[in-house]
Amino acid sequence: MERRWIELDGKPMSYLEQGSGSPLLLVHAFPLSAEMWTPQLVGLPAGWRIIAPDVTGFGPAPDGGRAAAPVPGTSSVDAYAADLLGLMAVLGIRRAVIGGLSMGGYIAFAMFRRAPGCFDRIVLADTRAPADTEEGRAKRVEMVELLRREGPAAVAHAMLPKLLGETTRRERPELVAELWARIAAGSAAGIEAAIRSMMGRPDSTPLLSSIRCPALVIVGDEDVLTPVAEARALHAGLSDAALEILPGAGHLSNLERPAEFNAALARFLAGATAR
Ligand code: MLT
Repeated sequence: MERRWIELDGKPMSYLEQGSGSPLLLVHAFPLSAEMWTPQLVGLPAGWRIIAPDVTGFGPAPDGGRAAAPVPGTSSVDAYAADLLGLMAVLGIRRAVIGGLSMGGYIAFAMFRRAPGCFDRIVLADTRAPADTEEGRAKRVEMVELLRREGPAAVAHAMLPKLLGETTRRERPELVAELWARIAAGSAAGIEAAIRSMMGRPDSTPLLSSIRCPALVIVGDEDVLTPVAEARALHAGLSDAALEILPGAGHLSNLERPAEFNAALARFLAGATAR
């Protein structure tokens, strides 16, 4: 697995890459970075060129510091999507299997809105199609206030009980500690930009019927942020979708149950997932 860089509109953009073959682009969740896809980068079968980009404002800068955040007021899931389509163009990738987990799913929808022809298949993990509710937006405003007052460590503290399922929190304290450290080391400006982007994202429900490529919906059965009911709704709205429910996983199902997640993804990639 290697970290690579491109320059996009004069700004550095980083991504992790592993393997060669058909392209698979994986978009990370909030408030994490490309690193969260490590179990997939190292664990998926040969024949795939896996690319995990850092969404603008997340991950490292070329000098080892934190990535620069979007200019305040300019961030949106659409702008993130444009960046990732720009990355694909720079890498000469016209079509790929494109997947996202949670915020990564919101960004995948935005990519589909802009460039449906770039999708060979789509993977939607622990995510939802609808926009935020009024209550959801109010909670995001509270999160911004907390972030401004106490910094990314407070966001880590507030979010980890919801990001990880109860089984993981009980059985894998080392993963809880690792994620806490990763979130706490993130850029406050990047985190705030992502919160505002998620708050402003449109409802993707009307998009679902136009997604005709094969789709895989994955969800942890202990996911409290985008519960199984959301995954079932997504699955029902897509014309050609498989649904995989991973036992003992919360919202970060790819990290909590990497072997099961990779097996589900590998079945889908091989075109053999039971419908
Ligand atoms: C994520 O995991 O990306 C976020 O929890 C998504 C959200 O807050 O809607």
